[in-house]
Amino acid sequence: MKVIEEIDALHRILAGLPGEASVALVPTMGNLHQGHLALMREARKRAHQVVASIFVNPIQFGPGEDFERYPRTVEADLDKLRKVGVGMVFLPSVASLYPRGPESVTRLKVPSDLADQLCGASRPGHFDGVATVVSKLFNIVQPDLAVFGEKDYQQLMVLRRMVQDLNFPVDVVAVPTEREDDGLAMSSRNGYLSESERRCAPRLFETLGICAESLRLGRKSVEEVEQWGMQLLREGGFEPEYLAVRDAVDLSMPGPDARDWIILAAGRLGTTRLIDNLRVYPDALLASERPPF
Ligand code: PAF
Repeated sequence: MKVIEEIDALHRILAGLPGEASVALVPTMGNLHQGHLALMREARKRAHQVVASIFVNPIQFGPGEDFERYPRTVEADLDKLRKVGVGMVFLPSVASLYPRGPESVTRLKVPSDLADQLCGASRPGHFDGVATVVSKLFNIVQPDLAVFGEKDYQQLMVLRRMVQDLNFPVDVVAVPTEREDDGLAMSSRNGYLSESERRCAPRLFETLGICAESLRLGRKSVEEVEQWGMQLLREGGFEPEYLAVRDAVDLSMPGPDARDWIILAAGRLGTTRLIDNLRVYPDALLASERPPF
């Protein structure tokens, strides 16, 4: 496995690949868990070469968020990537991606219908930061496809929209969320939870399941489910931020006839912010199989 820190060195290695070799990029911020490794395995199935990137991107963190304390575990990450057969790891420094400083970089502006709701409502500029760094990685690596997790569903939609709007010749592949045995979605931030918070954490996914069931059975309206879900989260020890039903294709408000609904939620346990989502009708086509817009 090649570990590459400089953009020029990565370009030289990529230029040496056979012309017909397809390249998959899996962007990460490190502190890898089974969810990330599932992305790597999917990338391996779909391309000749897998480039994983590890970069804790300062411009997607807001003031007071966890940029400084975000876990940096590069050596352990490299071991895991070796074991799943990743060929190249790109480990750029902040100075190489943002030579004039992170604040001075030209940024993408994600349309507000997508970026200013759900997670974007409490994290202004977050998705602009994500789209900017991923567009830089796309330009640097020039992959045929890129793999992202459905756990960060709004991010997935933002990146699909970016690829379409800016004509990136990159297929965006979505991989379902990996979960712990008790249902908790795997996340690097789970490591912040205290023992008692960890015991409460599965309530997030449980609540999504209860809400989805109620919608499927037609027991409650969308508005009722949204209010009830917030109450269930509060009762479960969360400080909920949102619980919202959306059209899974574009995150718009669900119309009466839409049948591909998704419930998304975010909430805090202590200082740790967790997010998760669940399709209401799992038999509806997966987001990865439908044209997003
Ligand atoms: O999902 C993440 O880990 C990050 O948002 C990403 C896509 C690597 C961009 O920094």
